[in-house]
Amino acid sequence: MPETSSTQSPRSDRHADKYVFASDNSAGICPEAWAALAEANKGHVPAYGEDHWTTEASDRLREIFETDCEVVFCFNGTAANSMSLASLCESYHSIICYERAHIETDECGGPEFFSHGTKVLLVGGDAGKLDLDQVSRVVEARSDIHYPKPRVLSITQATELGTVYTPDEVRATGELARRHDLRLHMDGARFANALASLDVAPKEITWQAGVDVLCLGGTKNGLPVGEAVIYFNHKLAEDFAYRCKQAGQLASKMRFISAPWVGVLEDGAWLRHAANANAHARRLAAGLGKIEGIEIIAPTEANAVFADLPPYILTGLRARGGHFHTFIGDGGARFMCPWNTTDADIEALIEDAREVAAATGA
Ligand SMILES: Cc1ncc(COP(=O)(O)O)c(C=O)c1O
Repeated sequence: MPETSSTQSPRSDRHADKYVFASDNSAGICPEAWAALAEANKGHVPAYGEDHWTTEASDRLREIFETDCEVVFCFNGTAANSMSLASLCESYHSIICYERAHIETDECGGPEFFSHGTKVLLVGGDAGKLDLDQVSRVVEARSDIHYPKPRVLSITQATELGTVYTPDEVRATGELARRHDLRLHMDGARFANALASLDVAPKEITWQAGVDVLCLGGTKNGLPVGEAVIYFNHKLAEDFAYRCKQAGQLASKMRFISAPWVGVLEDGAWLRHAANANAHARRLAAGLGKIEGIEIIAPTEANAVFADLPPYILTGLRARGGHFHTFIGDGGARFMCPWNTTDADIEALIEDAREVAAATGA
């Protein structure tokens, strides 16, 4: 298990620790990324991504995905998703996604904005995954000129509900996309967690399964900032760099985005951190699930635990300073385990929940 980053705030007192489960953005920078940043801070290098760190990070991703993909770094997940989706569409097209997808619920209309009017069409499904029959029905519903022409299918890996598409499921989604002449976009804000959970080669759940573009998340897995947009289809990447520049997403000091990627990719730290987060989520689910009144409401396959907690436990945990969201997914509370979650973090939360349940639930 990785050690807690020495870069964490020395003010991380008991109260601050209560933010552990609020989001995987609450965690600090992992040691490997921090060390690479310090290294990148030496000397002078060319700007705007012409530096050797950016070349190395891109090359390492090509090695990891075992293909000659196009890699572009930008600042955050909303921009990565919005701009890559826009690059796949004309303004009169539509993007089909799961009804609770981040691109629909949490990007302030970014995909529609950057594509100048593309419509997002929503589809249901179980446990955060698209129901492919429903996708077909949406695509086949209309072919007249009054309907926004379906062009992109977007899935999230790991999903917003903490589940993971299996390789077979991604392949089936890719085949469906091809049948309907749709491009396949993958929001991989937590791709590392999905990969660590499945233990397969990255290519098996991306380009070999039909994914055209992957937005590979780094921020939630120990990087300070920055996501990689990976095009497996070079043609679709044409002019994407111009989109990034126009949208204010081309970092002049790009090395400070790309060097941390090198730091976490070079010895597999990105997967170790993701596996640590996943393992702690499983422990948390097991512990919370044993407490009377608490029900785990989604399979814990990545680093999120979704649980139904009675109001008295929710209130009790919050009164003890606990921070977690209750507005994400299909209801319940979300406990997100970051890359550096420790056994002590898990035990403290389970203990708090047990005490609160015992004190107020009887
Ligand atoms: C599924 C998913 N996609 C993308 C993002 C990226 O969002 P941001 O723009 O905050 O980096 C997030 C962040 O919460 C997410 O959960």
